[in-house]
Amino acid sequence: MSTGSWILLDHVVALLSIAAWFAAGVALALRRTRLTPAVLGTAVLVTLLRVGTVVMLAGRGWWFVQEKVLLGLPMLGAAGVGAVLLAGPHLLAAGRGRTVGRSVRAVVALFTAAYAALAGLVVTFLVGYPLTAGTAVITVSLVCAGALLTARVVAAPGESTAEVDVAPAPEDRRAISRRRFIAWTGGAVVVTTAGAGTGLSFLPAESVTRGGGPGRPSRAGLSVADLRGADAPAPGGTVRRHVLTAQQATVRLPSGREVDAWAFNGEVAGPALTATEGDLVEVRLRNADIEDGVTLHWHGYDVPCGEDGVPGVTQRAVPPGADFVYRFRADQVGTYWYHTHHASHIGVRKGLYGSLVVSPRAGQRADEQVDLTLPVHTFDGTVVIAARDGRTEHPAPPGAPVRLRLINTDSDPHRIVLAGTPFRLAAVDGRDLNQPGEVRDVGLHLPAGGRYDLVFRMPDRSVALVVDDDRAGGLRLRPPADASAATHVADTSGLPELDLLRYGAPAAVPFDPGRADRHFTMVLDRGIAMVNGRPAYAQTVNGRGHPGIPDQLVADGDVVRMTVVNRSLETHPWHLHGHSVLILSRDGTPSTGSPLWVDTFDVRPGETWEVAFRATNPGIWMNHCHNLPHAEQGMMLRLRYAGVTTPFGGPHGEGTAHDH
Ligand code: C2O
Ligand code: CU
Repeated sequence: MSTGSWILLDHVVALLSIAAWFAAGVALALRRTRLTPAVLGTAVLVTLLRVGTVVMLAGRGWWFVQEKVLLGLPMLGAAGVGAVLLAGPHLLAAGRGRTVGRSVRAVVALFTAAYAALAGLVVTFLVGYPLTAGTAVITVSLVCAGALLTARVVAAPGESTAEVDVAPAPEDRRAISRRRFIAWTGGAVVVTTAGAGTGLSFLPAESVTRGGGPGRPSRAGLSVADLRGADAPAPGGTVRRHVLTAQQATVRLPSGREVDAWAFNGEVAGPALTATEGDLVEVRLRNADIEDGVTLHWHGYDVPCGEDGVPGVTQRAVPPGADFVYRFRADQVGTYWYHTHHASHIGVRKGLYGSLVVSPRAGQRADEQVDLTLPVHTFDGTVVIAARDGRTEHPAPPGAPVRLRLINTDSDPHRIVLAGTPFRLAAVDGRDLNQPGEVRDVGLHLPAGGRYDLVFRMPDRSVALVVDDDRAGGLRLRPPADASAATHVADTSGLPELDLLRYGAPAAVPFDPGRADRHFTMVLDRGIAMVNGRPAYAQTVNGRGHPGIPDQLVADGDVVRMTVVNRSLETHPWHLHGHSVLILSRDGTPSTGSPLWVDTFDVRPGETWEVAFRATNPGIWMNHCHNLPHAEQGMMLRLRYAGVTTPFGGPHGEGTAHDH
């Protein structure tokens, strides 16, 4: 069973245990002395089952269970044992036929166990990993408060009503005042500890984490504003000049459907930028009328930091009427894309994106005869592939070498199937794989932001590119003589997914990932956290939201290792700017295929990924979930080279940009 399924099962069992303890409390309060033992037995059983699911999860990693092991289960265990000890004798006596009165203590104990079970689950959902002392104190005091309130309600029916017109006997009076005393002091203790816990949880976090490495700057006072790209091409290269104007536009798709878009030069996707290795790319970004402002981020392209297009970190967002020039040398060959990085959860979705393809210098690789760049984007539920919705046909002569460059510009993964021909997955995220074998009848899981280059020789029959198993849409490559393009494509939904960690052949890598200088762990979850100064039900990293997540500090030349753990039930496409990372393992299983260098990897529910890279591109780099709404909801932090500073404030740059 996958860790994700165990997480889900654990939630279900936790819910059942809450229900069972409440039911036991209610049954006893209603003096259903026959029913109560059965319900109590169920509660105990379900609680033991819960211990089982937590033990299973613990086997998958401490991150998945920390708050359950340290708080949830001990709290429930203590309350549950107390409840059994108090209710048990009472129920036994009743079972033997003796007439028994109400057992206030037993009822309160059963409800307290229910509160403890509930509190444990609430902590899991609202706080998660890591558990803090503040959270533990607040939780325990809330459960105690629940117990006190319950005691009051159960013990004193009608006490405060006017029906009591007879003066109580002296011993009753003493009992009442004792009870009041307990209630008041208990209440005071609960309020004080809860307050202390809240105070604890507002202690400011460290602004920097060093991942076990030193904190000293490797160089002093380098500003990202000075980390700009080259201003001339490599010898033999040319300058590729483009102007991209961001504007609101109504775009008409081939089906006739109109999209209310934000577009570069009025097109979605924006202009397809191409270059040859060594060329100088120079792009002038103009903002016509996007009120929020725009930038250009070169996704997956390891440009100098000052060209990275992150507002508040590497530049200011470009307001309407203004412009900004990006300049960098096309030193990386492959399939990339660009998009706005300002309010990108809106801007990219509305269309501010386009492709960037860099070809090798002539003679280094035979040009494919059919070479299609295919950004896949969803506009209001309609999948658009390279500016076309519905089914698209493209001619391809039999025998022609074909390259399809798929780019996922959405925030969710896409499933890609190529039907009708064997093919190779030649490149992932722009980087060539080592000896990619021929495959067929497989599904490809393309993460948000990711790119796959599919290559094959055109057969003499049609080939279908199917996205998300929608056989009616997608792309058809058709040899001129084949009239059958429109005909049947078999159901693709059952095809197995190609595992990239076992695809291709291993090869040497340029550093020893086992000897990392720094190691950072990022536990992804949902929880209550501050996001941009406001409390929110956030997408969190180690329990915090942007910009309150500590910067990861590295030094030039470090080998950096990252562990990314997904505790949540959603997929998180993890993306680091400025570097590609080498995949080491997933869920503890090492990568055994081709070295896999990516800029975005999908961490699915319950998964744990290990990746590594060498820090050779100084700057301040965003490190975030590429489900862009998630990033906006807090799942974003910065990787910062020691000694690098930014002069730009703003949504991504707030907080500390200095070393301790
Ligand atoms: Cu493609 Cu920070 O993003
Ligand atoms: Cu995410």
